[in-house]
Amino acid sequence: MKVAVTGAGGMLGKSLVDHISKKKWVNLFAFDSTQLDVTDILQVQSMLSSIKPEIVIHLAAKTDVDECELHPEEAYRVNYLGTRYICYSCSAEDIALVYLSSDMIFDGSKNSPYIETDSPSPQNIYGKTKYAGEKVVELFVKRHYIIRSAWLFGGQHDHKFVRKFLNRVKDRQPLKAAVDLIGSPTYTEDLAAKIVEIIEEGYPWGTYHVVNQGLCSRYEFAQHILTCIKYESAQVEPVPSSFFKLPAPRAGMSALQNYTLTLMNKNDLRPWQDALEQYLKRFKKNI
Ligand SMILES: NC(=O)c1ccc[n+]([C@@H]2O[C@H](COP(=O)([O-])OP(=O)(O)OC[C@H]3O[C@@H](n4cnc5c(N)ncnc54)[C@H](OP(=O)(O)O)[C@@H]3O)[C@@H](O)[C@H]2O)c1
Repeated sequence: MKVAVTGAGGMLGKSLVDHISKKKWVNLFAFDSTQLDVTDILQVQSMLSSIKPEIVIHLAAKTDVDECELHPEEAYRVNYLGTRYICYSCSAEDIALVYLSSDMIFDGSKNSPYIETDSPSPQNIYGKTKYAGEKVVELFVKRHYIIRSAWLFGGQHDHKFVRKFLNRVKDRQPLKAAVDLIGSPTYTEDLAAKIVEIIEEGYPWGTYHVVNQGLCSRYEFAQHILTCIKYESAQVEPVPSSFFKLPAPRAGMSALQNYTLTLMNKNDLRPWQDALEQYLKRFKKNI
């Protein structure tokens, strides 16, 4: 099966490419941002019409939430318009599509983890652009998977919370983390494996939440990082999220539940603590 991946140079992209390359049934075409710019419709069309993959896994996106807030037009151009171009070309060539979406499409007003049938109501530009992407996928591409995940960590190219926190530990800077932001930390390796399983086993088309089991605050997440690297003597100060004065508003509660997978008896993702421990052990030398 020919599989094309956009945004293959990113955090999840690297894990997915590693994982998928081991599969004998896949003929992989992976494109990083220098090889395929999804905001260029001619590039998108010529890539898809020349390769004619059976499925596209569309990961390319602007993912820095605060940068998206500061530069909304750029965020909409890549996350919405780029996705629209991918959808348009998939639809023209009858190609199936996997679209990666986010916990940030929800507003945080729920008291328990969000399931696939909850109504999106994004509160920041990044969330709005990802939700706009979901809508064009549903509108244009009949055979699609929308996979929502959250709070990713993993790989040598991690540039999100875990990496930023480890950098502060390394530089002996004060450690503070929000107690009122609740989410679902997820290992890119586990997410990549589930994406491949969904495609390989031909799960029914539609929307799936895919996160590691369990939820926590940023503060608990940070504390567990210190436990995993055996640096418990360091102290994390619990603070409200308002302390950080960031451009993009965050939903307090954005944890996801793999509800559809649970109903299908396919929710076998491990607890986030175990995944984090394995990740930090594996990449110990880079810490
Ligand atoms: N990180 C999370 O916690 C999280 C949670 C839920 C969902 N997701 C979704 O998962 C997907 C992968 O995210 P990630 O965490 O792997 O983020 P990432 O590391 O930032 O990867 C995104 C990739 O997209 C590329 N890209 C940006 N603009 C592009 C363009 N115009 N054309 C082609 N490629 C472009 C980036 O390349 P450059 O670096 O060269 O710009 C980057 O390599 C995204 O769709 C994201 O929205 C992420």
